[in-house]
Amino acid sequence: MAHMIVAGNWKMNASKNAVTELLSGLKHGAVTIKNAELVVFPPFPYLAQAQAELTGTSIHIGAQNICAADKGAYTGEVSLTMVKEFGVSYVLVGHSERRALYAEDDAQVAAKYVAIQAAQLTPILCVGETLEQRKQGLTLSVVTGQIQAVIDAAGGASFANAVIAYEPVWAIGTGLTASPGEAQEVHRAIRAHIASVALEQASGLKILYGGSVTATSAEELFAQADIDGGLVGGASLTADSFLAIGQAAK
Ligand code: 13P
Repeated sequence: MAHMIVAGNWKMNASKNAVTELLSGLKHGAVTIKNAELVVFPPFPYLAQAQAELTGTSIHIGAQNICAADKGAYTGEVSLTMVKEFGVSYVLVGHSERRALYAEDDAQVAAKYVAIQAAQLTPILCVGETLEQRKQGLTLSVVTGQIQAVIDAAGGASFANAVIAYEPVWAIGTGLTASPGEAQEVHRAIRAHIASVALEQASGLKILYGGSVTATSAEELFAQADIDGGLVGGASLTADSFLAIGQAAK
């Protein structure tokens, strides 16, 4: 099997000192990770520091968010051209916190996805249902609907250069993890949905699981046929726990 991706979304957590400590731990430990590509997503102010620390290592850098426009009067926003100067290769788009707290809708998510690919970076498209939606049996329709909005804008073939992260909203930051079986069911449906529009792209597509992933839960999650790695929040903030998740990739 091709290698997995283990991505650490730091969210709004960092300081100069914490970044130095975390990245030095990751740099030293990265040699023990044989089957996963590690990616870190620092807050914007720390991208330069991450680039300085990680150049020449196997660890990749991502951005947590991006503006779909390239430049101009967008106070407070950050462009793809800017993050590219700091060695960014992946960009998160559609994270549930962006959808819920900043009212990003499917159309905005799709516009960002298109812009990320136009800048020759790789989007990590995040999808996932709320607890209410799961209880109502809507999980697969919500998740495939979120993906379809991107297919409508960018086409199925665009998934040749994209990653999907399935993050059930109820599992994020709650300590609740989807069981390996629950996660696999959704991952399989995601791959089948992509296959229905882009057969060639579906088999190689990396689909990450996110939501309270720990080293303990990662092993069984990563053993599922359609789970190709993880998008990790809390456990990505210390080198030991993040590396242990990387080691769970077999
Ligand atoms: P936690 O691992 O803290 O649940 O966060 C998951 C997440 O949202 C990663 O993007």
